[in-house]
Amino acid sequence: MKTKILLSALLLLCGMVNAQNLKSPDGKLECDYGVENGRPFYSLKKNGVTIIDKSFLGFVFTPNAAEPYTFKKTVDNSDVDFYSGFEQKGVKNSSFKETWKPVWGEESEILNSYNEATVTFTQKTSGKSFDVCFRLFDDGLGFRYEFPVQKNFAYFVVKHELTEFKLSSDNTAWWIPGDYDSQEYQYTECKVSEIQKNFYKQVRDNASQTFFSENGVQTPLLMKTADGKNFILIHEAALVDYSCMHLEFIPKDNKFISHLTPDALGNACYMQTPCKTPWRTITVTDNAAGILSSRLTLNLNEPCAYEDVSWIKPVKYVGVWWEMITNKSSWSYTDEFSSVRLGATDFKTAKPNGRHGANNQNVKKYIDFAAKNGFDAVLVEGWNIGWEDWFGFSKDEVFDFVTPYPDFDVKMLNDYAHSKGVKIIMHHETSSSIRNYERQMDTAFKFMQHFGYSAVKTGYVGNIVPRGEHHYGQWLVNHYLYNLKKAAEYKICVNGHEAVRPTGLCRTYPNLIGNESAAGTEYESFGGNNIEHTCILPFTRLIGGPMDYTPGIFEMDLSKVAPDNTSHVNSTLAGQLALYVTMYSPLQMAADLVENYERFPDAFQFIKDVAVDWQKSLYLEADPMRFVTIARKAKNSENWFLGSKTGLYDRVSSVKLDFLDADKQYVATIYADAPNADYKTNPQSYKITKGLVNSKTVLNLKTVKGGGYAVSLIPANANDLKSLKKLK
Ligand code: NOJ
Ligand code: CA
Repeated sequence: MKTKILLSALLLLCGMVNAQNLKSPDGKLECDYGVENGRPFYSLKKNGVTIIDKSFLGFVFTPNAAEPYTFKKTVDNSDVDFYSGFEQKGVKNSSFKETWKPVWGEESEILNSYNEATVTFTQKTSGKSFDVCFRLFDDGLGFRYEFPVQKNFAYFVVKHELTEFKLSSDNTAWWIPGDYDSQEYQYTECKVSEIQKNFYKQVRDNASQTFFSENGVQTPLLMKTADGKNFILIHEAALVDYSCMHLEFIPKDNKFISHLTPDALGNACYMQTPCKTPWRTITVTDNAAGILSSRLTLNLNEPCAYEDVSWIKPVKYVGVWWEMITNKSSWSYTDEFSSVRLGATDFKTAKPNGRHGANNQNVKKYIDFAAKNGFDAVLVEGWNIGWEDWFGFSKDEVFDFVTPYPDFDVKMLNDYAHSKGVKIIMHHETSSSIRNYERQMDTAFKFMQHFGYSAVKTGYVGNIVPRGEHHYGQWLVNHYLYNLKKAAEYKICVNGHEAVRPTGLCRTYPNLIGNESAAGTEYESFGGNNIEHTCILPFTRLIGGPMDYTPGIFEMDLSKVAPDNTSHVNSTLAGQLALYVTMYSPLQMAADLVENYERFPDAFQFIKDVAVDWQKSLYLEADPMRFVTIARKAKNSENWFLGSKTGLYDRVSSVKLDFLDADKQYVATIYADAPNADYKTNPQSYKITKGLVNSKTVLNLKTVKGGGYAVSLIPANANDLKSLKKLK
């Protein structure tokens, strides 16, 4: 022991280890940082217990002809070492506390409070530096690299970022495989030491992806320490002008190391000082509910960039969509295949296939349904020419985003919708041809503005053109932001599918009202999502921003929707209702067909009633993959909504309604799995119970695996008090 202390003292004296310390505002989290043997490091403790052990920081750069480098080469002599030979030069400390109001969100006010240390690390041989800005909150750490303007250090190319996350135990992890182009996977739960063993477990046969490592996973990565005392979430915040970070597990060191998405040349990021990386984030909470209530990712993003946000509105919508996804109808107007780009005139003579979903009559049906049931909008896909051979051919020019098929009358339908107080949501499937989309973008947004569209769903299906680029590379990250800012110039909101997973940018650019970036409901039509899927997404994918999950499927047997569809929706009907509360989004779809809602008007009532913007959210029960129960109070209203989604196992959810106003009685309408419900064999078995409740009521509700329940809680009026009984 004595020798150990002496050795530490000696190392400190020699300047080999030099650690300093930052504490969270409540003093419970501590971040040590410093330099050991020339390598910058950090570590994170909670209540004195190590959460992230000593982890090193740094980079490997690609030699850059534009810059007279004085860096030394890495060991293999090909790249540039910007990770060794450092010393710590200075520290600037500060504290910050504010409360800010998001334009839309899970709550109307967010506390942002942290202590900060910006530490300068200088490489002795090159004389060049980076700063690391550490921000320590009560619920976690964010840090980023900053590169100030320096002599002979203007342009540089990041090949690898060497940020480590050294774990303190064999944590349990909930993860999806590292892929540069897609997050559309089911999750695996296992010990980090067993990631490799389980790597292909959830990779479906039709996935054509190649993976960078059999220990490579995506963020947000949720973990639980082996003693069960802490939940940890690793992600990034404010991904701007940089490539997306994955994590590679290194078993021998029990650590993850960052892995950046490369471009077609194998480089990750092209940088010019002054510049900074996104924040690397480590959220640490006592329980899983804490991960849901943390606002660390949003807090690390910049405040809203727009002065006028009056045009940004939450949206509840229906759409001409599920019928194409299930193959009941088609996006394309003809079945005639073309090796050239078809023009508008070609369709005058083309033979219609008789299955085109986006036709005037069908779209009007959805508009009528939306108007009758209080929906804000109707999404229409397959309205524009190009769908005959849009996918799989790496075509540069597919869609022009302005030319409708002959049976879709843009003006008539928009006028019709507007006359009924409904908007049509535009669809820009880019087929991942970025050059084509960027060329057309202004014209496409002007077209939208002219006809009165205020939101667009974008899509990036297939391999990126330019070929060799990836959905999560710096080049594409810049494209998504360009699209968002450009849309804002036209006061247009964006819902991006297949784009990089979000990192809280919706704080800065709140017209980003949704993203997909995970396996959504569409997978229920492609073989089915796992029953636990919606009980893990809130702890992972949703941490960076809302998901357009498109819930609300009432007909689970898809052969009843489209004869050749053999897929089954792995959920009960009541479970689908729960998702409107548990899967937070300011953009919520009622995704099923009109006729399926008309069969279950009493259950559909919940979708009509549920709010999409919230004053307060309470995370009542949470266990990843098993269950999640959330209560939310609607913004500018006294109404509450409760949702509980059940994953892997049947259970009884027990919820105290002590969040209700003590002096009020409420009408509770409970939409729950009936006792004989079964997600496979009897999914439409639900029970609706209505009665009076108050803040003393405790609900004990049985749910089945893959099921759930939803409750609306509306202040009672005199009539309700007379006519309804108290719920027991
Ligand atoms: C994939 C999207 O996730 C889906 O919603 C859309 O309908 C298709 N691409 C076609 O763009
Ligand atoms: Ca998708």
